[in-house]
Amino acid sequence: MPNNPMVAGWESPSNIALVKYWGKYGDQLPKNPSVSFTLSKAVTTTEVTMVRSDQHKDIELSFLFEGKENAAFASRIEKWLNKLVQDHLPFLRGSIIDVSTKNSFPHSSGIASSASGMSALSLCLCDLLYQTKEERDYDDDFYKQASFISRLGSGSACRSVYPEMAVWGGHDQIPHSSDEHAICIKDQIHPVFKTFHDDILIVSAQEKKVSSTAGHHLMNGNPYAPARYQQAHDRMTLLMSALHNGDVSTFGKITEDEAMTLHALMMCSDPPYMLMEEASLAIIKKIKTYRADTGVPIYFTLDAGPNIHVLYPEEFQSQTENFITSDLLPHCHEGRIIKDKVGNGPKKIK
Ligand code: PMV
Repeated sequence: MPNNPMVAGWESPSNIALVKYWGKYGDQLPKNPSVSFTLSKAVTTTEVTMVRSDQHKDIELSFLFEGKENAAFASRIEKWLNKLVQDHLPFLRGSIIDVSTKNSFPHSSGIASSASGMSALSLCLCDLLYQTKEERDYDDDFYKQASFISRLGSGSACRSVYPEMAVWGGHDQIPHSSDEHAICIKDQIHPVFKTFHDDILIVSAQEKKVSSTAGHHLMNGNPYAPARYQQAHDRMTLLMSALHNGDVSTFGKITEDEAMTLHALMMCSDPPYMLMEEASLAIIKKIKTYRADTGVPIYFTLDAGPNIHVLYPEEFQSQTENFITSDLLPHCHEGRIIKDKVGNGPKKIK
């Protein structure tokens, strides 16, 4: 391996799940399959410089988030890197690694940055691995490996390395699907979904009271868990067919049912907890009423938090934007919104 510095830089997007991953086993493996839209504007840009050091056996990490040191992020990444060195990326052993990372969306905007952040860093690490092997072809195996590495950092991040849409988790009727890494399904979806909009309404920018890690863990004692995992499999079958056929109303029904199920599972955990706010419910009700009154196919989903993702086809953009501005924005924290849409996946920048 050369002693001169190696550099890699990638921009990687966030993603929003339609059928949700909620509950895990083993080393970040999902209890049920999930499917997501890859976003385009909510991205993390990461640059990594790696120098081989003869004096080190372990990894020495320096980590900058938006130009500043961040001890909490650094310690999470250091733990993950040490695991990777042992089991999957031994070429990193004994190196000095400088990571510099920034988000396109403001910190504490209520947007989870783990999917974009972990996938951007994983892409950089796989890029460095390819450089050591003098590989220049970023082929399917490259993205598969980046997805696998991302998964070990943050489960849902493994879906962010692909354009348009990705499936993560083994499913009998989805060829090549796996618990170990996500797969790209862009060739299996109708064109209407390739330009779908996702306007993210920021209801609260506060840190979550219960982390996703704790939420996944609580599924282990949830009496509804077995039925939930079966339901997610069944909904995947129905949603994959709707995605293929361009059936927007079936897509919308399953997507909304999934968001409600996710939050219901939180409310019936032991101890129970709630991440929706009054404003989340007000927005959901208004979306349903507007859809019923106008026939405009506008739907919602939520992550593990109070913010609402408003999903609609491109052709309804102007109508929907007017409705959002007049009726939904007043419920948002400081009128905040991130207007995103389905995107083309990560980009190599260095
Ligand atoms: O990847 P994690 O551990 O942050 O969990 C993500 C869980 C959900 O966002 C609620 C669902 C999903 O599939 O992304």
